[in-house]
Amino acid sequence: MSKTKQSQNFWWKSAIIYQIYPRSFKDTNNDGIGDLKGIIKKLDYLNDGTENSLGIDAIWLSPIYKSPMADYGYDVSDYNDIDPIFGNLNDFNQLVNEAHQRNIKIIMDFIPNHTSNQHSWFLESRSALDNPKRDWYIWCDPQPDGSPPNNWISVFGGPAWTYDQKTKQYYLHSFLSEQPDLNWRNSEVVKEMHNVLRFWMEKGVDGFRIDALYHLIKDDKFRNEPHNPAYQIGKSNPYDEMLHIYSNGQPELISAINGFCRVLSEKPGHFMIGEMYLDIKEMAKFYQACSNQLHLPTNFSFINLPWQAQNYKEFVDQYEQILGTENWPNYVLGNHDQSRVVTRIGNRQSRVAAMLILTLRGMPFIYYGEELGMENTHIPKGKICDPCGEQDSIFGRDPERTPMHWNSNRYAGFSTKQPWLPVNHNFSTYNVVDESKDSQSMLNLYRRLIWYRKRSTALLAGEYHSLKTSSKNIFAYFRQQNQEKILVVLNFSDQSQSIKIDIDDQEAKLILSTYLDYGLGKMIKLKNFVLRSNEGILLEL
Ligand code: NOJ
Repeated sequence: MSKTKQSQNFWWKSAIIYQIYPRSFKDTNNDGIGDLKGIIKKLDYLNDGTENSLGIDAIWLSPIYKSPMADYGYDVSDYNDIDPIFGNLNDFNQLVNEAHQRNIKIIMDFIPNHTSNQHSWFLESRSALDNPKRDWYIWCDPQPDGSPPNNWISVFGGPAWTYDQKTKQYYLHSFLSEQPDLNWRNSEVVKEMHNVLRFWMEKGVDGFRIDALYHLIKDDKFRNEPHNPAYQIGKSNPYDEMLHIYSNGQPELISAINGFCRVLSEKPGHFMIGEMYLDIKEMAKFYQACSNQLHLPTNFSFINLPWQAQNYKEFVDQYEQILGTENWPNYVLGNHDQSRVVTRIGNRQSRVAAMLILTLRGMPFIYYGEELGMENTHIPKGKICDPCGEQDSIFGRDPERTPMHWNSNRYAGFSTKQPWLPVNHNFSTYNVVDESKDSQSMLNLYRRLIWYRKRSTALLAGEYHSLKTSSKNIFAYFRQQNQEKILVVLNFSDQSQSIKIDIDDQEAKLILSTYLDYGLGKMIKLKNFVLRSNEGILLEL
């Protein structure tokens, strides 16, 4: 009899994924840009098998492929090679081996929607109307007045079409004009891109994060998109001016995902997560895309949800209910495209958020430096690198991409040369060396939560039940597996709150407070217990 989805013991079901932005993690050749050797050097920090390390299970590497770096690696000019800025394929092999020795899996960023305009496929494609690779990209004739084929806009602003003088057609780019979209309706493109997945699976990678997945297939009639009635000039993101019903999320996407799943299942144990900014109901549809459940859509909801207990309780309850116990949730507090969590909600609040994502059912992602409490960095005008920031600094992503803080030395121990982006001014307080010595630091909170979670079958696999509380500022839930029952109570407010929750148990063993000042194992009476402002606690019942 085949195993049910829930009982299948996929490694990724208990995994915590740590996202590394390689340019900013650790520089070993002193050019001010991080590299693969730097990541290898810091693997013990990530997981050396002891509780002195962070204890993560997998690394997701933002792109390291050969690239002209118009979009910092999300514009690939060779999918089967490493950009020399980061190292070479030998360094990559070493990274995979060394990571695997520490039980750390490697997840590659896979960018199927578009290549670089410097990729040989595109150079061929744009060379002539009858080039065999012409149809590998999306080319269309101008309208009679010479304007673009339709009203589609690019995620990064402006029309999604660029005119090619030589062949007198427009090509489509959902992002920068240096990132032409591949034509996923062309079977040769599908075959080549599947081979890219196979290439990296052969190299030992354990999974993929699929970039811009929702954009992959476009309407075959290239219909104009309707105006978004909710759009507010000057307030909304310019991309939200249109409802993207034809350039995104086409029905054929499901079979494209099925294709990825088939390739991944050629070597069992591989994992795939797709980048999709969707609401829960839409997200849920993609769980059905792969019968062997390799696929998870990323859940970005916590990034935009206002920091109020009620919002979070409602979201998690609904997400859990829609997904059911057989599907695996995912939680993300930040990434290389989003403002850092401490900047969004505050430092104390971020400690509560850490307890939240590390105790909910599902797969938590940690964005490098989140475990230190790193904040957005102010980037002076002349130092802006991100093309989005150059167009409009509000939408620039450099502030969340600045160098990792390893110690309080010059350049935070990231490099001996001036880094490609400035180091945050607070690095002498928030860094790995100093936080390791401080028993109440954010880093030690992450370590304690992660290692506790590793040993708790209730947290790894148990059911989730939220509880009624008398305060709208408290989110309380328990996680349970057989006899093991964990209670988590989170105070989202700046005021202390006494615990009034709908639970029979009178007493519980306090395991962790986000303040990290209580002794472990203290028995507390639930009825009269007072949570301090912005405090989360984890208890065993
Ligand atoms: C999403 C990635 O996360 C972002 O950084 C990139 O610019 C776009 N996709 C285009 O690849």
